[in-house]
Parts: sequence; C-alpha cells; structure tokens
Amino acid sequence: MPKDPSEALGAWFLGPRAENAELLERLVIEALRDHIFWRRNYHPEDGFAIREMDKRREGYEETVATLTQELMGLLAELKRDVPFFSGRYKGHMVGEQTIAAQVGYFATMLYNTNNIAIEISPVTTRLELEVAGQLARMIGYDPTRSWGHLTGGGTIANFEALWLARGVRYLAMAIAGAANELGLELPVRLPDGGEASIVELPLWDLLNVANGDSLDLWERLWASAPRPDVQRAFANHSLAAIGYQEYSRRLALDYGDPLPAGVVLVAATAHYSWEKIVRALGIGSNQLVHIPLDRWCRMDPDALWERVNGLARRRQPILALVSVCGTTEESAVDRLDQVLQVRARAERELGATFHVHSDACYGGYAAAVTRRAGGARRAAAEIRASMGTDWPSEEWVRAVEALGEADSVTVDPHKMGYIPYSAGAVLVRDGRARHLVATDPPYLSPVETSAPGTERFLGRYILEGSKPGAAAAAVWLSHKVLPLDERGYGYLVGRTVAGARRFHAALAGADLSPFRVILLPVPDINIVCYLLCHPSLRSLRDVNELNERVYARMSLARSDGQPEYIITRTRLRSPAYDGAIQPILDALAIGSVDEWKGSGMEGLVVLRSTIMDPFLAAPPPAPDHVNGFLGALRRACDEALGESSPAAEKRC
Ligand SMILES: Cc1ncc(COP(=O)(O)O)c(C=O)c1O
Repeated sequence: MPKDPSEALGAWFLGPRAENAELLERLVIEALRDHIFWRRNYHPEDGFAIREMDKRREGYEETVATLTQELMGLLAELKRDVPFFSGRYKGHMVGEQTIAAQVGYFATMLYNTNNIAIEISPVTTRLELEVAGQLARMIGYDPTRSWGHLTGGGTIANFEALWLARGVRYLAMAIAGAANELGLELPVRLPDGGEASIVELPLWDLLNVANGDSLDLWERLWASAPRPDVQRAFANHSLAAIGYQEYSRRLALDYGDPLPAGVVLVAATAHYSWEKIVRALGIGSNQLVHIPLDRWCRMDPDALWERVNGLARRRQPILALVSVCGTTEESAVDRLDQVLQVRARAERELGATFHVHSDACYGGYAAAVTRRAGGARRAAAEIRASMGTDWPSEEWVRAVEALGEADSVTVDPHKMGYIPYSAGAVLVRDGRARHLVATDPPYLSPVETSAPGTERFLGRYILEGSKPGAAAAAVWLSHKVLPLDERGYGYLVGRTVAGARRFHAALAGADLSPFRVILLPVPDINIVCYLLCHPSLRSLRDVNELNERVYARMSLARSDGQPEYIITRTRLRSPAYDGAIQPILDALAIGSVDEWKGSGMEGLVVLRSTIMDPFLAAPPPAPDHVNGFLGALRRACDEALGESSPAAEKRC
C-alpha cells in the first residue's frame, strides 16, 4: 500500500481525459483473456458447439454485422450521456468509478454470478460478506455480531432497514402472544431498568422493549419449547405472518386496544424514498413524521425531543427514527450523537424507545476519514492536520463515530464509493434481527444457523432475490486498492471535501456584480448549494425564475445539450426547511418567511453542485474548474436575465 495516498490518487481512476487508458485496457483485456482461457480449458473433451465453418455462413455473418453496426449506434448514442468523469460535471451524486471497480465488475460480469446463494456464486457471495464486514468495521460495528449485505441501492437498503426495524419493534408483542399460548413465563428488561414477565406487560411497555432485549427474549423463547411449537405459536402472533388487519383486531381483543398507529420519525431532509418505503410496508405515509432542521440543515435534536415527548405522552409508538449522514440536497450530517442522547433520555424519562437508523447512503464512506490504517480512530485535529483544512470539526467526528451506535446504517458504494451501479448496502448492529425476516424456499440451500458474516444463502434474509455478484466483486476490489481508512477512501473523500470548500469559498468571494451569490452554509461534506440574485428582482418568484433559467443553461436540459458546466437544482420548501430558511432569506433581502411559506411546492429554487471530483482542489497545471465555473455561471446569469427582461419578452 503506497505510503502517500496523494501519489496513489492518479492511479485510482481512468481520469477525466482517460489518462489511464492503457492501464484500464490492459486490465480489461487481462480479465477477458483469462476468462476465455477458463472456458477453453473447462472439460476440453467436450468439443466445440460453434465451429469455424459455422462462422462462414451467411446468417452468422449477417448477425455479426448487425451486432457491430448496432453497437456503433449505441456507442454513438451514449455520447449524449452524462460526462460524470469531468470536472465540468458538478451535478448529482454520481462521479467517476474507480478503475478497480470497473475492472472487478467487468471481470466478474463475464462469470455472471448471482449472489442470491452460494451455490450459484461460491466466490462472490463470500466477497459480498467480506465487503459488508469491512463497511461494518468502518462505521464502528462489531462484524461478528452485525449483519450486512449489498443491495440494489439505497432505496432497497433503507427499505430493508425499516423492514427489520419494524420486525424488532413488534417482536415483544409477538413473543408475548406466543408465550401466552405456550404457557411460558419469560422475564424481560424494561427501558427504565426494571424487569417483568412478558405476558404481564401492558401494550405500551411491549412496544417499548429495547431492540437487544427483544432479541434476547426471542432466543429464550426458542429455547423454552420444542421448535415446531414455537414456530406455530410465533406465526399466530407475528405481524409478518398475519398482516396489519388481523394484527390490529387481535390486539383489540387481547389488550382492549387496537394497535396505535406507529410512526416513523425522519429528518426533514430525508430522501423521498422514505415515503415510498412507509407506503410499501403498509405503515402509511401519514405516519411519516418530519423532524425540523436547524440552520445547517441538520435534524434539530431539541425539536426531536419535543416530538418524542409529545408522542410518548399520547402513547403513540415510534417504530424508528431515521437520521441522515450526508443529506441528498446539501450533504448535511445530522448530529447522530445528540439524536442517540434524545433516545436515551426518552428511555429514562418516558419509558419509550425506538430503533435508530442512519441513512448514510450518501455520506457513509466519509467515515473512512476517521480511520487510520489498521482501523484505530483518528481525532478531528489529526484529520485536519493531515488535510490542511479546517474540516472536520470535533462535532462532525462525534456524529460520524456515533454511526457505530445506530441500530442500522445504510451506505451506498454506488455513491461516494465510486462503484458502478447498482450497489447499496444495509448494515444492522444486532445481526440476529435478520432471522425475523427469513424465508426458506424449497429449491435453495436448506435452513442454516450460521453466524453473521458466514451466511451461505443471502436470499433467505433479504428483500431482493437474484443480484449481481459483479457488484460485490467491484466493491471488494475497490476496497483492496482504496482501503476504508486514511490511505484510501478517507483520502479520496477528504479531497472532494477540500474541493467543495474551495468551490464554496470561490462562490462567496466571486464578483458577479450586479448579480449576488447567496450561499447555504459550508457543507458538512461536499455538496454546495447557492442561488443567484439581481437588483431588478422584486419577489421570490422572480428569484426562482432567474435561478430556474440559470439551471436550464447549466444542465443537460439546455437546448443545444452543450452546457459549459453541469449543475442541478432543488427546492427548499416549507415546512421541511422552516428551520434553515431565515438566514437565506435575510441574505437574499427579498421576500418574507410568510411569502416563502405561501409558495407551496414552488419553494425556493436553489442551485446544487455535488463535488465528487477529487481533482478540484488540485493546484495548476490541473485544469481550473473553479474559475472556469464562475465564468460560465456569469454568462448563464447574463443570458438568463436577458431572457426574462421585459425588453427580451417584447423581442420574442
Ligand atoms: C440520503 C439518501 N438516501 C437514499 C437514497 C436512495 O438511493 P438509491 O437512489 O440508490 O436508491 C439517496 C439517493 O440519492 C440518498 O441521497
């Protein structure tokens, strides 16, 4: 492993001008030839299904011609795709892929492994579990106790996390029902430290048994009666088996109380997938409760406490709380350490608890910054000194270290892991939870009770079925070249943060007069948000129009499809951004909070640049895509204003 990651960086990517073309070509050809060699030597006695003579047939030649022609067409079409590899791309959270990932994916794709079960992916299922263990270690989980695997992406990973979380939250109720049916007395620990028999607990207490205690109890249930009896009794009472309707009916019968609608608390910045997830799980989007933000777009822990307190006093259960590490819009990192303190307080003072999930789909790889080679933690000052920046703060490091205390975390390799799609990951701190969703088909490997990390049949525990082993190999090979610490991903993410800070500072200091740039706070990771203003603008609607026009010129939506630089935009809407909007409106000096609140879905249009380019902070002779961008932004502003002016309207 090179001592100096700044020297390794040049070998990590194909490069914006395909500078490493020879390297990639050599490795891809190596992989291809090696695969061909494998086929040629696999049972050589089998003879040939396609002979040289067959290749001289008209139909064969025609097919090859069609294939070649159509491929040329596809390659030409793809040139209209997104140039995510270039420093000119400052748009969505997609960047270059590491060469390791590209080669790992390509090589394994030829073998077409399916990580549903080890019998069709003897190599890549092992790699997937290895990778999950690496990610678990990075965030601070004990890989021998946790459970994790790759998914098709962040949405699926988050879905699974909530699926498991709900299973664990309702577990004590199912156990109480089963224990009652089986005549068992099982003692359980209560959030306030007391102990009681599970069958005597009132509904509210059953809904507030801590995750670990529920899972301990579950193990005791299985040990207390013959397996088939437990299986039958448990299925009679588990939500997964009987469904919400029957579940509520039974609870009303047993406790004189139908199941109070459990809520899922999410940061107001939560990705829209959470709404899909609560809908799909039957929880219902009305049960998705958004927690207000502070001015840095992080979940406000005081507002969280208020909500939790109010819900607990109304005896409304909280299924889970979703905090974000790296928000989609602005890469804000919630103070997860403080969020966990709120839960501890709720347990102490209200007898209420809930599953804490961190959606670190975007920001998860930033945790690599906090790790030395060998895995020890790095203090904030040590990281700052190595990077030569004022990032990260002590608070940021505490928030990221707290990932290890969350009950589940999702981290997407296909975002800041620079891995080709599709590769998300879900990690659960107490791996026993996976058994709650286990399903056994008759045609795949028999039931196993292996320790987490050594599973042979992933399909048993996961939402998806067939899934690409190639994605696992891509992540695995990339982690070999860029370890999840200061030598690899830690350095890479740090470079993008340095680039984002340079970009933010350049926008703050840019003289685009008479235009003004209004900036959201310096980002917690690497997404910079800003908007433009002009003295002629009178209302928020005018401001939105100008920024929409700038966006239209600096995105692939541009009529000639050739923007100089590519950005994206988002909308800050009420009530989600109520806590963050005031300083932005103050800086804008146009429109009041009430006007903004009344703007509904229109909100405030904000331009957004995700800085995944590790070369943006590089000194010359690297291209200067910061000043280049400022020039393009100025031109886009002039054009946008010209088009919206009354004179221009007349010309039209
Ligand atoms: C914070 C966060 N969570 C989840 C997702 C969903 O990820 P995917 O698009 O991979 O399903 C995203 C996507 O941008 C995200 O930013």
